Amino acid sequence: MHDIPRFSADEARRRVDGFHELFYYRRLWDTTRWMGVQVYKCPFDLWIYQEILFTERPSIVIECGTAQGGTALYLAHMYDLMGAEGRVVTIDIEPSAAAPRHPRITYVHGSSVDPGTFERVRAGLKPGDRPLVILDSLHNKDHVLAELRLWHSLVPAGGLMIVEDTNINGHPVYTDFAPDQGPGAWEAVDAFLAEHPEFEVDEAPERLLMTFNPRGYLRRRPAGT
Ligand SMILES: C[S@@+](CC[C@H](N)C(=O)[O-])C[C@H]1O[C@@H](n2cnc3c(N)ncnc32)[C@H](O)[C@@H]1O
Repeated sequence: MHDIPRFSADEARRRVDGFHELFYYRRLWDTTRWMGVQVYKCPFDLWIYQEILFTERPSIVIECGTAQGGTALYLAHMYDLMGAEGRVVTIDIEPSAAAPRHPRITYVHGSSVDPGTFERVRAGLKPGDRPLVILDSLHNKDHVLAELRLWHSLVPAGGLMIVEDTNINGHPVYTDFAPDQGPGAWEAVDAFLAEHPEFEVDEAPERLLMTFNPRGYLRRRPAGT
């Protein structure tokens, strides 16, 4: 019989970070697919997305950074499985011609830091919509901070905004993608929270330990708090 190990917080962090580095540097996120479509995510985060969609029931997901459309399709399929109303608007500066078609998905061609793009998406919202915002385009600090400043206004009281890839710049990994080297999404979150005390880090979505978005699940405080 083995004793069940009790990991100290430091030991748990060391082990999780080790696996994170292994997964990241082997580029396993680069070969992950949903229904055959590339999805640049850690599967643990996709699972958490499913939990968030089911429990929080956002009426619309706004994703900055479509790539091949794998996450947009995943979210659309989750809405299908839930039998719920829900749509996905996904924005990219370089749209993929091969992106999957699905009646719930709307593709928007533009830059996520262009106020004109923001306005097009905002104009398409319906009264009472409760958007979930996902920032997953470029991941350098200046770009993410510009996105946060633009898109946070669509997040309802108690709602979530997810900042992807806060793991770069040593949290715990480093990227070799030139525009995203140096201060990144983690540092953008710090700067944004200093400006916007109405948002806070929600640690609950980090429950599975392994996430590409440490301190990246931001919640707007509920009204009256
Ligand atoms: C990390 S990938 C997105 C991954 C996708 N969300 C997924 O989960 O599979 C980043 C995408 O951001 C796009 N991108 C880069 N700069 C952008 C900008 N200024 N506005 C919108 N999209 C941008 C790139 O073309 C690329 O497709």
